[in-house]
Amino acid sequence: MIYSRITGTGGYLPDNVLTNADLEKMVETSDQWIVERTGIRQRHIADDDQTTCDLAYEAAIRAIDAAGIATRDIDLIVVATTTPNRIFPSTACLLQERLDIHGCAAFDIQAVCTGFVYALSVVDKFIRTGSARCVLVVGAETLSRIIDWNDRSTCVLFGDGAGAMVVQASEEPGILSTHLHADGQYKELLTVSGGVSEHAERLKSGEAKVLMKGNEVFKTAVKTLGQIVDETLEANRLEKSDVDWLVPHQANIRIISATAKKLKMSMERVVTTVEHHGNTSAASIPLAFDVAVRDGRIQRGETILMEAFGGGFTWGSVLLKY
Ligand code: COA
Repeated sequence: MIYSRITGTGGYLPDNVLTNADLEKMVETSDQWIVERTGIRQRHIADDDQTTCDLAYEAAIRAIDAAGIATRDIDLIVVATTTPNRIFPSTACLLQERLDIHGCAAFDIQAVCTGFVYALSVVDKFIRTGSARCVLVVGAETLSRIIDWNDRSTCVLFGDGAGAMVVQASEEPGILSTHLHADGQYKELLTVSGGVSEHAERLKSGEAKVLMKGNEVFKTAVKTLGQIVDETLEANRLEKSDVDWLVPHQANIRIISATAKKLKMSMERVVTTVEHHGNTSAASIPLAFDVAVRDGRIQRGETILMEAFGGGFTWGSVLLKY
């Protein structure tokens, strides 16, 4: 049996930090409101000349280094992003060129905040079917470019960053199962107001920005993530107590706590980084995972549950043995 095993992780956050105190000077908000409702204290913002591919590259080289592989070993590159450098080529192709590798398949996946879970699921299928053996999978975003910095209901939530993993074929257990879902009927609750072929005039005028009905997103996210936890455990015939670590999408500490409660898990077993970088969409799970691997919390052989929810709506989970 071939498994997909994480052999290296890396993360990167841009140097420029935007604190809640900075936001107090930009919109009518307060540090207290942001911390109480979201748990976020600061976010990192890419410089004007820094692209999603630049962030992806920094995270990728750290993951490649941690895995101890050579770039020429990589036979597939998948980048989860909703804020690609260009409409095309894909950010995965741009990253491939930056890494100076040529010829292997490379493509982007767009499932907003569930992007990394979607990417891991696809990568797992490539590896299990023997179509790839050594995959670079990255979640990278420059969400700051599509945020309306005058809209206090969204601008306090998001940030930029990238997280990466090298995932390799192995006879030892790795990814045990993945679970993906989507429901497009919720398309208006979390969206961008303009695009390439719909409201293109807003893209041209720079008015294409994130719009969100926060309260409704919150309620659906909590309910849906509870269901995905049950689905994942049932599929693997596991009990809640079998999960060693929850590595959730980092959107909001209250959503994360609700899922931990559903798992009857103490917050000490939940990896949370949202305080330091806000919601970095597809980058948030690999960023959090990398932090907990590097500080020694997540150990080889432990059982990890990742879950995410995002625009679409999309949602999903990955259960794995590290
Ligand atoms: N600072 C101060 N007040 C703010 C504010 C801010 N940054 N943003 C909104 N408010 C105000 C609202 O205007 C509203 O005021 P009103 O009562 O006078 O109308 C009040 O706070 C409550 O707004 P509401 O939207 O009901 O707050 P909430 O408790 O739902 O918290 C969120 C707002 C965004 C923090 C919360 O809904 C949330 O986390 N949603 C999920 C968002 C998310 O994670 N999205 C990504 C999913 S991947």
